[in-house]
Amino acid sequence: MPCREKEAESRVGTVIVVASGKGGTGKTSFCANVAVALCALGEKVLLIDADAGLRSLDLVLGMSDSLLFSYADVARGEVGIKEAAVHHPIVRNLRVLTAPAGLDGVSDESLCALLRRAAQHFTYVLVDCPAGVGREISAFAPGAGRAVLVSTGDALALRGAQKAAQTLMQGGISQVHIVVNRIRRGMIDAGAAVNIDRAMDASGLSLLGAVPEDDDVAICAGKGQILLLESEGDAQRAYGNIARRLRGERVPLLAGLKGHYE
Ligand SMILES: Nc1ncnc2c1ncn2[C@@H]1O[C@H](COP(=O)(O)OP(=O)(O)O)[C@@H](O)[C@H]1O
Ligand SMILES: [Mg+2]
Repeated sequence: MPCREKEAESRVGTVIVVASGKGGTGKTSFCANVAVALCALGEKVLLIDADAGLRSLDLVLGMSDSLLFSYADVARGEVGIKEAAVHHPIVRNLRVLTAPAGLDGVSDESLCALLRRAAQHFTYVLVDCPAGVGREISAFAPGAGRAVLVSTGDALALRGAQKAAQTLMQGGISQVHIVVNRIRRGMIDAGAAVNIDRAMDASGLSLLGAVPEDDDVAICAGKGQILLLESEGDAQRAYGNIARRLRGERVPLLAGLKGHYE
């Protein structure tokens, strides 16, 4: 039986692949902050760092010393998922599974099975993928129910997001959304970025949310601090809105934000 069908049988949680066409668009920031916001809403969340080349979730979450096992160890059956996934020191209900140095000896089937198992233990599983459409995307897509493309508002990033989305849809994911990150009024006025409506047109994807440019994102990431606990800025609110939308709530696009971004 194909991995996707087996997964549908036993799924309890929602598995979301987080991808982008271009690097540095904000995937890791999205994963960390939306995961924290989901936990604050009472969800049990597993974050999987699938960016082997550029492991960064552990740093952003202030957990760089605590992650021993990688998702490859779990996929190979060397350790159980609950043993390998480390609890966040502050955020209740958040666990993190880090990236291996490489994927040698790990089959695509076993990665799909890993997501299936994870969905039995957690209500949300977020997979922080590398940019582009490499092996991680094709291996994890069949085990995921949804995908989020994180893009900035510039034409190159949006085109890349559209291409990556096509690959994810071919991999069998039907619910694919875009999040436009680092929105800034001045950039739109200067013509360096498009507004949110045009971003949707350019990517051909429906919008899950928009996150403003906000220094607090980088400051907290640099210190391994939790944005939700340290900041009352617009990015923190935007990630919270996205978390609520993922749970099926209808939340206006810029609800609660103080700045003007349209
Ligand atoms: N909304 C934002 N406002 C300000 N800085 C951001 C925002 N989103 C991401 N960044 C910064 O941009 C850089 C790249 O973000 P990151 O999440 O690591 O991207 P990716 O995982 O896609 O490579 C980091 O320095 C991060 O702190
Ligand atoms: Mg990243």
